Amino acid sequence: MKKLIAGFPAQLIEALEIGAAANIRKSEKPIHKAYVAGMGGSGIGADFVASFIRDESPIPYHTGKGYDIPAWVDENTLAIASSYSGNTEETLSAFQQFQERGAKIVCLASAGKLVESAKANGLDYIQLPAGSPSPRACLGYSLVQQLWILNKLGIIGSSLLDQIRGASDFLTKHQESIQERAKQIAALIHDRVPIIYTLDRFEPVAVRMRQQFNENGKMLCWHHVIPEMNHNELVGWREEDSRLAVLFLRSSLESHRNQTRTEITKEVVGNFAGSVLEIQAKGDNLVEQSLYLVHLADWLSAYLADERGFDAIEIKVIDFLKESLARQ
Ligand code: PA5
Repeated sequence: MKKLIAGFPAQLIEALEIGAAANIRKSEKPIHKAYVAGMGGSGIGADFVASFIRDESPIPYHTGKGYDIPAWVDENTLAIASSYSGNTEETLSAFQQFQERGAKIVCLASAGKLVESAKANGLDYIQLPAGSPSPRACLGYSLVQQLWILNKLGIIGSSLLDQIRGASDFLTKHQESIQERAKQIAALIHDRVPIIYTLDRFEPVAVRMRQQFNENGKMLCWHHVIPEMNHNELVGWREEDSRLAVLFLRSSLESHRNQTRTEITKEVVGNFAGSVLEIQAKGDNLVEQSLYLVHLADWLSAYLADERGFDAIEIKVIDFLKESLARQ
């Protein structure tokens, strides 16, 4: 897993090249909205894209993590099916519904039924490099392809793609300090229940961090965002619990109001949690800061696995569940 994580900055560059060469045909019908179906490591990329394009995209970008798609998905919808294996049943179910609705479909997969079906039906697809043992280590591929698809369909310009390239250089430059910080935090929280709080704009980072703690670190974890948690979860902080370790993901992009909210929240939570830590995002823009935190979270999850004596790659229980479902 550490080798895969170390390859993330290079994966972003490779992903830019794959997307540049991809053939995405313009839709005959105008595109008014977009919907991405994908689970786990193949779904999270869409959450980042939705956050990154928010200030630029003229159309809404929705993500769905389940079998069924919303009623509004129609022939004016860009519908992306994202599954690294190409065989995840929820995504295949959504994909079938995309076809029934006549949506503009693009598939993202390394192999499997999704690639076979895209080829057989003459649909657009981008084939990702095969052979990774962990779809979650392929976030760079799926995220960047979605930006390319939007760019090639004329929905966004190229500045986010340029920022991805910049982020890759930035991560390479900060590799050592990121690993160092991740190691320090892992030593502090490996036997705790981590709780991640951040701004709504950084929610995809918090989700990614939680997923990586779950899958790589084999531990429970939860997250919430400011300001929404100020209106509910904050009230849940009433009793001291030394097992809880709260991580605040901070950013220079926080508005003054949200900064104040975060400080007050930290004070309240600090009265009850076992420990409170801050992780400051580095970088010049949302893309750079998000990917900085993602990379740090990925390293942190690998070190948590070490500290806890687990193999970060192993996800036997997910395999068991998928196999059990396939038998029924
Ligand atoms: O990281 C993982 O292995 C999982 O979260 C998978 O991504 C998830 O089970 C979906 O599988 P796939 O990515 O092959 O569609």
